[in-house]
Amino acid sequence: MSARILLAIAEETVPAGAATALSREGYELATSRHGADALRAWEEQSPDVMLLDVALADVSGFEVVRRVRKGEGDAGHTPIVLVGPADMQSKIEGLRAGADDYVAQPVHPAELTARVRALLVRFGVAERGGAGGRSAMGQLHAYYGAKGGVGTTTLAINTAIALQQATKRSVALVDGNLQFGDHRVFLDLGPDKRSIVDACSATAIDADVVRRVVVRHESGVDLMLAPTTPESAELVSPDQHQLLQVVEVLRSIYDYVVVDLDKRLDDHTLDVIGAADQLLVVMTADLSCLKNVRLLLETMGQIGVPDERMALVLNRNKAFTGISIKAAESVLRRPIEHQVVNDYRTAISSLNSGTPFMVNHADSPIGRAVVQLARALSVEQPAPAKAPRLKKLVAVAG
Ligand SMILES: Nc1ncnc2c1ncn2[C@@H]1O[C@H](COP(=O)(O)OP(=O)(O)OP(=O)(O)O)[C@@H](O)[C@H]1O
Ligand SMILES: [Mg+2]
Repeated sequence: MSARILLAIAEETVPAGAATALSREGYELATSRHGADALRAWEEQSPDVMLLDVALADVSGFEVVRRVRKGEGDAGHTPIVLVGPADMQSKIEGLRAGADDYVAQPVHPAELTARVRALLVRFGVAERGGAGGRSAMGQLHAYYGAKGGVGTTTLAINTAIALQQATKRSVALVDGNLQFGDHRVFLDLGPDKRSIVDACSATAIDADVVRRVVVRHESGVDLMLAPTTPESAELVSPDQHQLLQVVEVLRSIYDYVVVDLDKRLDDHTLDVIGAADQLLVVMTADLSCLKNVRLLLETMGQIGVPDERMALVLNRNKAFTGISIKAAESVLRRPIEHQVVNDYRTAISSLNSGTPFMVNHADSPIGRAVVQLARALSVEQPAPAKAPRLKKLVAVAG
């Protein structure tokens, strides 16, 4: 089944080639020139994506988005791309109205097609063949470190392996630190191994491409590695949501997708956070970490990440820090859901040998704690079927 696109554009603002380019991609197109028609078509035809011009003659694109969002309530979510002027004010108005993406004019047909494709992947319309939907997609666990060096990569890698061992299900692990990813070091893999850039430079990011790019680790987990140089990270386009596209395609193939996120709350990181079933915030019990966790929880609340999708992981528990779990929980005013014991000897020798402790020291103190974490995550019920629609961080700040 091809996706149905509702295209509502004023003739003079979007190049005539847009409709042709979308049809050539195999999408089923319905077009209208007026906002009222677009609203009627939305009600009657339930399109998979709406592409709206802000400058429609009768009801503006902004207003159409507002009415669609009001009309659908919590019952569903039609992905919407707005096309409009490049000024910041219009972009913020569009995103606040509830658009999922905003394309500034002048717009090229190829860019429109790429944005539509990215939204279809983001909302689980692509790859699902018309049936299934998000429930058929793998669980997405995203690890975010409240501070550098708290053990995010150690936990993401080892929990991915533990999940695979505990559930016997398929697991993919993504190094989301595109500039300085260090999974190659943790897993003793050379620069010759393929990276996410190979997937993003393909004509389309689909299951075949992703299958060709992943690297099988001896543990049985498949890896989507970061590129080997910081400048190559630019080849993964945030505008086309390419990290998210890769993650969503992986979810259509694997039972679990684990992402080790970058600290920067940039578009790539926010894309993955928005799609995650579980956001695991890794922290240690020290003041600067507690300050960051508080800020992060606040920011996540502002952009609309549901509380039940987040969990705190206290790493290096029982290391002497002078701050107890109870004290940390009372500062944060929420429980710390998971704890991983301090076991520096195992952690550092595993890093330096390039063999994760879940491969050869699963019975170490840190290994047992990670198994417990993986078990808890594997029995956690899938989050509600609908991905939350996050507000843009810039829009909130502006
Ligand atoms: N539970 C633990 N007990 C003791 N040491 C640990 C534990 N977890 C991780 N470490 C050690 O902490 C150091 C940092 O770990 P890691 O690289 O995983 O952190 P990170 O948060 O990913 O860092 P970065 O900000 O550089 O990405 C490593 O030396 C690792 O071996
Ligand atoms: Mg790391």
